[in-house]
Amino acid sequence: MVHLNTSMQRNVIQTLGSIAHNLNIRDKYSEGHALRVSVYSKRLAARLNLPKEEIENIRMGGLLHDIGKVGFSDNVFRNEKRRPPKEIRDEIRKHPSIGRIILKNLHLLSAVIDYVYCHHEREDGSGYPRGIIGEKIPLGAKIIAIADTFDAITTDRPYQKGRTPAEALVILRKDSGKKFDSRLVEAFIAEIEENGVLEKALFPDQTNNGFCSYKHK
Ligand SMILES: [Fe+2]
Repeated sequence: MVHLNTSMQRNVIQTLGSIAHNLNIRDKYSEGHALRVSVYSKRLAARLNLPKEEIENIRMGGLLHDIGKVGFSDNVFRNEKRRPPKEIRDEIRKHPSIGRIILKNLHLLSAVIDYVYCHHEREDGSGYPRGIIGEKIPLGAKIIAIADTFDAITTDRPYQKGRTPAEALVILRKDSGKKFDSRLVEAFIAEIEENGVLEKALFPDQTNNGFCSYKHK
């Protein structure tokens, strides 16, 4: 793979991160989501003592995981049903593949592309776009999947009020070993219990300090 030079690559990543962060211009429910997922993913990766470079790839994958949503039609963003009609579901399921194409064309690191492509795959093969099972799913994608789900559950959506962090952890544990890697779920729960959740109004200049004073009880 051809890599862009470092400063150009940094600019590309910053621009994409900004696009990902600002998806909420079209989807108000995603405000701050990309950034929070990147911080939660980084925290879990660091807790697992992964190499520094890998932690950075996972953080970046968390930031860019939904970049493929930029191609969504207004119908998808207007949808307020928990289970939308099939044509909208089909469009939603394309976003990991669209994200992969966007990043591939920009020659971003292949690990980051893989995490974006696989963040909706699930341990038991019930995910998408390929329905691959546990051992085939990259570790970074499994980490992002947990961070993504936790943040989605605790955020208000048109069809549901955001649940509490404690409720979200119960849901993650219920799906442990089915949708999510059980070892990672336990590590994530321990991380949240020890270091708390993020403020909902987390903005980019706070990314170096992803922790807030709230402690999960
Ligand atoms: Fe997604």
